[in-house]
Formats: sequence, structure tokens, C-alpha cells
Amino acid sequence: MIRLFKVHMPKSVDERLLETLHSGMIAQGQKVKEFEDKLKEYFGNNNVLTVNSATSALFLTLRLCNIQPGDEIISTPMTCLATNVAIPNFGAKVVWADIDPITGLIDPESIEENITDKTKAIIVVHYGGNPCDMDRINLIAKKYNIKVIEDAAHALGSEYKRIKIGNHSDFVIFSLQAIKHITTIEGGILVCKNEDNYKRAKLLRWYGIDREKSSYYNKLENDVADYGYKFNFNDVFATIGLEQLKYLDDIVNKHIDNKKFYDSQFEDNEIIKISKLNYEHKSASWLYIIHIPFRDYFIRYMSEKGIEVSKVHYRNDRYSIFKNSRKHLPNVDKFFTSQVAIPVGWWITKEDREYIVKTIKEYIKMVYNG
Ligand SMILES: Cc1ncc(COP(=O)(O)O)c(C=O)c1O
Repeated sequence: MIRLFKVHMPKSVDERLLETLHSGMIAQGQKVKEFEDKLKEYFGNNNVLTVNSATSALFLTLRLCNIQPGDEIISTPMTCLATNVAIPNFGAKVVWADIDPITGLIDPESIEENITDKTKAIIVVHYGGNPCDMDRINLIAKKYNIKVIEDAAHALGSEYKRIKIGNHSDFVIFSLQAIKHITTIEGGILVCKNEDNYKRAKLLRWYGIDREKSSYYNKLENDVADYGYKFNFNDVFATIGLEQLKYLDDIVNKHIDNKKFYDSQFEDNEIIKISKLNYEHKSASWLYIIHIPFRDYFIRYMSEKGIEVSKVHYRNDRYSIFKNSRKHLPNVDKFFTSQVAIPVGWWITKEDREYIVKTIKEYIKMVYNG
């Protein structure tokens, strides 16, 4: 079976991992600091923090935005539940914006239409690695004095207008969970534009205690004025991360090479629709989405041909935890009925991708010519 996802775990991790495992130092320590220093270099920003998952990073971010019960947060339902699950936990209401029916990216016009005086933040998702139109979104946020949170779980290595995702708005979160471009088993990254937010996030990820203040007991005796969480990263994950980072550019380039091949094969196809963004960008191409007729039948067809394809995410507005936010979202309806992700990752060889395209073209022929 040609897989849609694969865990990237190079052999070069083994030795270093064993060293850390038996070092007597496996919790948050020097390796976490080293990993964060590398990430700071990567993003060109000092306000980079690791946490135990992207989901935790989103919880932290809502705290940093001081979200209160009754506040509204505009978001997209076309994503992993992780994007939105923190919102009801803060007693806030999700207000859905509609999306582009082909790319699945949140529609800036729909964001603006949904702003009220209760709106405190906008969450955008760089679906599949395709960056949202950050200039337009940031302009809206500035106009109404609202925070922007970028869920970049799919987009490590993506760029918007030649600048890496991670550098465009107040808060950007990334995931290092098992099947992302690179993984630390579990893990998340929070990138803050502002140093005060970064410092507060650093306290909140470990109960609210300042770990950097003098000796162990003094540390505990310092007042805790802002209650936090147990969201810290650890040296075992960081050891894996330090090794994984060495492969990141190569992995992203392989995804992009496969994406370009698919683009060249499908861009003039009258039946299959693919994403085209009308602004300068680089997509880390974690997913490659196509829109295809009789999508659910297509998924079975491809599986019989040995190719795993999937809807990947389920629209969040269908979950009853969000029943108070339900509304008509015509473009979510369109996107959700025809979209499917085909294998595009670093493990897909030239032969694989040619076989995938051939199989898709045969499917189209079969559906239309009988
Ligand atoms: C869009 C999106 N956001 C957030 C997450 C959550 O990431 P994590 O598992 O690191 O919490 C995921 C996980 O796949 C995701 O796809």
C-alpha cells in the first residue's frame, strides 16, 4: 500500500536517544534549551517555546489572549478538532467563518463579516501547508484590534511572500506529532511576536513557576501570580527533535517536488480541481488536496489499487460541542464533499507518483466513459 502518512524517524536518532534515556536527565533540561535555540535560529525569532503538543500551544495562546467566558473567536471548521477544542474550554464561543471551496483556507471576507464587539481573536489554519492570505487577515485584525492565531500544524517550512510561516502574526503554533513533516513523538511549538507574551507563556507552561530563578527550593517559594499548566517539553523529545531538524529542509523539498509534479499533471484537467493561490507563497505541502467527483467511491477505488487517500479531517461544525455555533457554510459544504488528500510526502518515489496519477486518470476515464 502507498501510504498517505509516514513517520520520519532516521536511524541517526538511535544513539543520541539512548544516551539521553540513560543520562539521568529526561525531563525538561539542557536538551530542550538546545532544541529551542535551534528553532529560534530557524525562525529568526527569539520568542520560540516548545510545549508537549500543538493542542497545548493553542490552550496557552488563548490564555495569552486573555479569552474570557462569552468572548467570540472566529475560526474555520475545516480542520483538526485540536484547532477549536480550546475555545469552549475557556467558555468562549466559536464563530465559524466560511472557507475557499477549493483550497479550504479561511475566507478573509467571511472573517470580517463575522466580527462583532465580542470578537477577541481569529484562528486561521494553513490547510495542508498552503498559507492563508496573512496580509489581508492581519489588516482586518488591526482594523478591529483583534489577535491573530495561526494554526501552522501542517505548515512547518511554508512561506508567505518569501517569509517563513512563524513570522506573520501575534501567535503561530506548530505540531511535532508523529506524522508531521518532522516529529518528536509528541510536541508543539509556539512562536510569539511579542517578548512579553513569550515570557508569560514560558511561566504558564510549567504551572506558573519561574524555573530560571535561582535554586530549586527558592524557585518553589517564589509567588505564583498567574496559574498555569503542565505543558512542558522534555529532553527525550528534544533529543529526537535536534536530530530531526537536520532533515527538515530536505523533507520539505521532497514534498514540494511531488506537489509540483502533481500540479503539472492536473492543472489543465477539466474534472479534477487543485489549489491555486493568487499570492506569492511556498507550501510545505503536508497534504495534496484534489477535488474529485464521487469522492467516497474514489477513496475505495484507490484503496483497491493499493493507494491510501483520505478526507483527513472532519468538519468541526458537525460536532455537538459546537451546536450553538451552527450556521450555513456553503463553501465548507462544497469543499467537504469533494476534497481528498493523495500521498505527497517525502517517501513517495517518482514511480509511486506516476502510478498515482495514472490511477487517478483511469478513474476519471472510467467514471465518464463507463
Ligand atoms: C490543523 C491541526 N492543528 C492542530 C493539531 C494538533 O497537533 P498536536 O497533535 O501536536 O496537538 C493538528 C494535528 O494533527 C492539526 O492537524
